[in-house]
Amino acid sequence: MAHRAVTTSMPMPRATDVVRLRVNGDLYEVGVPAHYTLLEALRYELLLTGSKQGCDKGDCGACTVIIDGRATLSCLTPVHEAEERDVVTVEGLASADGPHPLQDEFDLKGAAQCGFCTPGILCSAAALLARTPDPSRDEIREALAGNLCRCTGYTKIFEAVEGAAARLRVE
Ligand code: FES
Ligand code: FES
Repeated sequence: MAHRAVTTSMPMPRATDVVRLRVNGDLYEVGVPAHYTLLEALRYELLLTGSKQGCDKGDCGACTVIIDGRATLSCLTPVHEAEERDVVTVEGLASADGPHPLQDEFDLKGAAQCGFCTPGILCSAAALLARTPDPSRDEIREALAGNLCRCTGYTKIFEAVEGAAARLRVE
């Protein structure tokens, strides 16, 4: 007797895990599919869509966030690895006093065009300036080497980071 494949319109249940995340100073407890990356949890569960889903394989830097002070690709970070750590996304860079100096300088210098790369670049630059207040152009270039921008040619981005560094040093 021939066997037939049995199909069903019932959706397969998704395995979910509960994870505890600390993002931009807020604590969250969310149920996520077990395979989720941090980027997916940020965008699809916490609705923090500033971190961009570009290549989804570690090549473009659009998903960069800051974890425990280090610029980190959230598309390559299993969500479990971010539990109980300090995650900062582009939404967390500004303070009650206003935009982060990097955000001001990107605006003033015209360092963003389409803006798709900008959240990741801001996070990479913020992590750099937190550990290196007076970076050289080469140090900035190296810190942003994993962040691809198709629009600006990078010069205005480097100038904006230098401008923000100068402002942060006098604040
Ligand atoms: S989306 Fe993460 S590196 Fe491109
Ligand atoms: S501003 Fe368009 S990719 Fe950078």
